[in-house]
Amino acid sequence: MKYSFALAGLAALATASDVHDLTKDTFEPFVKEHGLVLAEFFAPWCGHCKALAPEYEEAATSLKDKEIALAKVDCTAEQDLCQEYGIEGYPTMKVFRGPSNVSPYAGARKAQAIVSYMTKQSMPSVSLLQNKDSLEEFKTADKVVLVGFFGKDDKSSNATFGEVADKLRDNFLFGATSDEALAKAEGVSQPAIVLYKAFDEGKNTFEEGFTEESIAEFAKVASTPLIGEVGPETYAGYMAAGIPLAYIFAETPEEREKLSKTLKPVAEKQKGKINFATIDAKAFGQHGGNLNLEVGNWPAFAIQDTQKSQKFPYPTQGSEKELSAKNIGKFVDEYVAGKVEPSVKSEPIPEKQEGPTTIVVAKNYQDIVMDDNKDVLVEFYAPWCGHCKALAPKYDDLASKFKPFSDKVTIAKVDATMNDVPEEIAGFPTIKLFKAGAKDSPVEYSGSRTVEDLANFVRDNGSNHVDISGADGEKTEGVETDNMPRQAPAATEGVKEKVAKAAEKIKDAAIDEDEPHDEL
Ligand SMILES: *[C@@H]1O[C@H](CO)[C@@H](O)[C@H](O)[C@H]1NC(C)=O
Ligand SMILES: *[C@@H]1O[C@H](CO)[C@@H](O)[C@H](O)[C@H]1NC(C)=O
Repeated sequence: MKYSFALAGLAALATASDVHDLTKDTFEPFVKEHGLVLAEFFAPWCGHCKALAPEYEEAATSLKDKEIALAKVDCTAEQDLCQEYGIEGYPTMKVFRGPSNVSPYAGARKAQAIVSYMTKQSMPSVSLLQNKDSLEEFKTADKVVLVGFFGKDDKSSNATFGEVADKLRDNFLFGATSDEALAKAEGVSQPAIVLYKAFDEGKNTFEEGFTEESIAEFAKVASTPLIGEVGPETYAGYMAAGIPLAYIFAETPEEREKLSKTLKPVAEKQKGKINFATIDAKAFGQHGGNLNLEVGNWPAFAIQDTQKSQKFPYPTQGSEKELSAKNIGKFVDEYVAGKVEPSVKSEPIPEKQEGPTTIVVAKNYQDIVMDDNKDVLVEFYAPWCGHCKALAPKYDDLASKFKPFSDKVTIAKVDATMNDVPEEIAGFPTIKLFKAGAKDSPVEYSGSRTVEDLANFVRDNGSNHVDISGADGEKTEGVETDNMPRQAPAATEGVKEKVAKAAEKIKDAAIDEDEPHDEL
């Protein structure tokens, strides 16, 4: 081993290992000296770190001859160093090409996976393809590969392509050739990039505007399958895509595959307008509930307007239940034509408002909350939320006190687990004031949950400035000095929240049992 440490007592131990123990003082010189380093940031007490240790040792020994160094840093002893590299959980592994070129390690925590991942990292990011055979072989070396075709003297295209490859080397394989005949045979003229893929149309060509950004964008778009899969890695991308997402829920991989094939023509027709993706109904069925599908009734289909947070479940009753290209094609066409009403979950409108607090449901939300003449205070609650229960009598009291002013103020509540509401709800209870004349900018209440403070809030923040203090000489039940903590959101909430929550669930469900980080 190259590095021996001064601590004599530990020397014997250290020599037994091919993993280099680094400190604040030795870290930087070490990564400067070694071209490629994998560093593990760990804590001695962390269980996952202990499980990784023998695997890491084994990988270090195999990689030693390839000049790939494995190092570790004890973050309980080297807090500054770990903070510098933004370590937030243990173990965290990072790949270093010098002290400032750092990328996360994205492989599994097994010796073989580490060896394979780091060996790939050690190869040039672009493979030079010398002839037709090597090109042919390269085309199928991975699900998606990119090949650059540019002239021998075209240094600029070569450099740009190289930059992209360095950045995206963990996502795609990159190859390049300057053989003009090969370019011709592929039907492109230099400079060009061809993305070969094992699905959909098989390949896509890029010939315009050789900039890093446009190449990266091309790679992203062309590598996205016509019908992809919603999962922890892809969900955020679909939500950010800016176009609706059509979900195909099915329980088995075989069924998902079959439905993808069946619905391919529909997806083809909507390409660029609606994304289509399958989703594992076994693992993420709950998300179907968020889309107002009947959980358990699979397979199923739904469209989500990611911009407006609206959902359009495909109706599963009746004779047209089958997810055929004809049925779904018709449904999607109607959706595109604006003929499908978004599905809104709602409790029935109460026949009579019996209590002092006005009951709002999705179906009367518009009429009550958006009444432009009144200041409307709305509590968004969940039946199971403890703080909501504690608030209930005080809230009713508040409502009673405002009753004489019911032409100006409404005190209302809505069960946000049973009703789709257009507001973003981050926790229960959430209290918002929709004041007269300014319904699109509700004010969220963040004060203490006392009748007096709530009443003042309605008076001061409302447009009608209704003052109930002294109305009946009331004194409220004492002032709480500290704000009640918010109950963490759970189960089902507001539309956007549900989506965010579902994303988390999707993530949680997919985390490999032996992968989670121990928190700092
Ligand atoms: C790109 O540049 C590198 C470094 O100069 C060179 O080795 C490689 O052959 C070039 N690639 C092509 C396809 O010309
Ligand atoms: C809203 O009400 C609170 C409580 O009475 C008050 O402190 C605050 O200044 C008011 N905000 C506005 C914008 O009027």
